[in-house]
Amino acid sequence: MIQWAPPSLEKEEIESVSRVLKSKWLTQGKITYEFEKKVAQYVGAKYCVMVNNGTSALICSLLSHNIKPGDEVIVPSFTFVATVNAVLSVGAKPILVDSNPSTFNTEIDLIKPYITKKTKAIIPVDVSGMPVDIKKFREFSQSNNLILIEDAAEGIGAEYKNKKIGSFGHSTIFSFHMAKVITSVEGGCIVTNDKDIAEKLRLIRSHGSKVPYDSRTFGLNFRISDLHSAIGLAQIKKIKKFLKHRNNLAKIYREEIKDHKFQTVPDYVTLHPYMLFGILTHPKDRDGINKILNKNHIETRICWPPIHMQQYHSKIFKTRKIKNAEEIYSRIINLPMGNGLDLSDVMCVVDIMKKVKNKFNSYAD
Ligand SMILES: Cc1ncc(COP(=O)(O)O)c(C=O)c1O
Repeated sequence: MIQWAPPSLEKEEIESVSRVLKSKWLTQGKITYEFEKKVAQYVGAKYCVMVNNGTSALICSLLSHNIKPGDEVIVPSFTFVATVNAVLSVGAKPILVDSNPSTFNTEIDLIKPYITKKTKAIIPVDVSGMPVDIKKFREFSQSNNLILIEDAAEGIGAEYKNKKIGSFGHSTIFSFHMAKVITSVEGGCIVTNDKDIAEKLRLIRSHGSKVPYDSRTFGLNFRISDLHSAIGLAQIKKIKKFLKHRNNLAKIYREEIKDHKFQTVPDYVTLHPYMLFGILTHPKDRDGINKILNKNHIETRICWPPIHMQQYHSKIFKTRKIKNAEEIYSRIINLPMGNGLDLSDVMCVVDIMKKVKNKFNSYAD
């Protein structure tokens, strides 16, 4: 089976984990603080607060910005459910907006009609890790007095006009789930240049306490363990290599699979981290092509069904049509992409895609 998103774990990760196991301190401690330092340094942010996954990073961000019941938060419908569930978890109301059908990312013009007096925050999502037009989002949120939380769960390493995502000052979250650009198996973090927010986040992730049994604000246990951070720490040291590898694989897909469209990469994106690699098929062919890939032992992901189409969420959001999100979903297949994928694996995928070529219409504009 060619796995959908295999990680690359080598002797560095094994040695790093075994050092922690031998140290007898396994929960959040100095290895986590070192991982925080390395991530902050790497992205160019003043502060980094590690938590146990990307979903927690979103929840902690919302809590740190005091988002509460009655507040409205703008989120794209074309995202992983975590973005919306985080908003629901703090009792606020997610307002779903559409995305650009070519970049898969949301844009200011698509958001504007949904801004009300109750809007408190916007959470743009960097789909597949590819940055949204973050400068425009910063200008818009500043001029409308809105909190900006960037869901870059998939996007560590991405660059916007040669500047790393996470270095712009607002709260940006990353995930270190197994499929991501770097992994700590499960893990996540918030980076920011705001000292007060970073301090609040440190309290929120640990029952509102700086030292044990001294609860100063609301919080829960969102902590990551040193055991997980040990893996993340070994991985962040190799991120340059991983990004290069992912870009090489993406280049092969883009050059070899010519009959399909891919995510359009705007000029302001100077480094795409390719956490995911999606192709757009004709909606009639999507399931057929996917079935053939799977039959040939190639694991894929059809993601994502837009939030308003998910069983649970459709009851909350009723059935408002969100056109582009639905269109992307009807066409997309995410092909294998990962640090642990070989060139030969990708060539196997390409071979199958070439063989199915004559059977299907492919993308028709
Ligand atoms: C866009 C997006 N947001 C949030 C998350 C949540 O991250 P985690 O799975 O680490 O909780 C993910 C992870 O898949 C994601 O892709």
